[in-house]
Amino acid sequence: MSITNNEVFKEKITLSKIKKFKNTKKITMITAYDALFAKLFEHEVDMILVGDSLNMSFAGKPDTLSATLDQMIYHTQAVCNGASDAFVICDMPFGSYINEKEALENSIKVYAQTNAAAVKIEGGADRAHIVKHLTSNSIAVMGHIGLMPQYVRSEGGYIVRGKTPEDTKQLIRDAKAIEEAGAFCIVLEGVKTEAAKQITQAVSIPIIGIGAGNVTDGQVLVWSDMLGFFESFKPKFVRRYLQGGKLVRESVKEYVNDVQNSTFPSQEEEY
Ligand code: KIV
Repeated sequence: MSITNNEVFKEKITLSKIKKFKNTKKITMITAYDALFAKLFEHEVDMILVGDSLNMSFAGKPDTLSATLDQMIYHTQAVCNGASDAFVICDMPFGSYINEKEALENSIKVYAQTNAAAVKIEGGADRAHIVKHLTSNSIAVMGHIGLMPQYVRSEGGYIVRGKTPEDTKQLIRDAKAIEEAGAFCIVLEGVKTEAAKQITQAVSIPIIGIGAGNVTDGQVLVWSDMLGFFESFKPKFVRRYLQGGKLVRESVKEYVNDVQNSTFPSQEEEY
């Protein structure tokens, strides 16, 4: 009897296990926005992030800034429904954590309405007080520093970080402040590899890189980028493991052909 992936027993990931992975194994995370894909990813990766990148690839918007809390909750519910064993993180959207009170109220909403294990917020030392307020009220927080997509308009673009010793020092200060505030893990995005190495070594919680070289404690990719479904733009750091868009188009063409040739449905496919 063959064993399918779904039947393979995999120990449930917990927050303390993720922390212990630092210096022992590379951590893997992928985004998911719905139950269907979450189920496919569930037993393959350590964590699933319901990223606000869904506002771009799922909702077709130009950036992440207009994602709403209700939207993030809806997609997090779907992901948790599809992947009930997974360690799921809900990205807090722009404007949902502008002060301690709102950050806590909104994170409690996420905990109350979904099975997310943690929330993710963007920001360095400037947002450490918010992370502290959440963690001291029993909310598990994943930080996000470096290139922060929610800062795209205020920074005037997506700017790679860690190009100078001063900026690298700032990022180390950011990572340490978020660690001290009680985050269990930090996403480090769009950072020069040498700077990413120093940041990873400066803290004792895992650093999950995206566009930060292979020196971090783990990697995260947006599912629709790595599987080739989001085709309008491919950032340099993305590796496409599947030509999803091409495969879908070819399959739909084949279906249309079969219908037009009257070869679909066949006798086996009818009642
Ligand atoms: O929104 C997202 O998908 C993210 C990842 C890029 C880390 O924040």
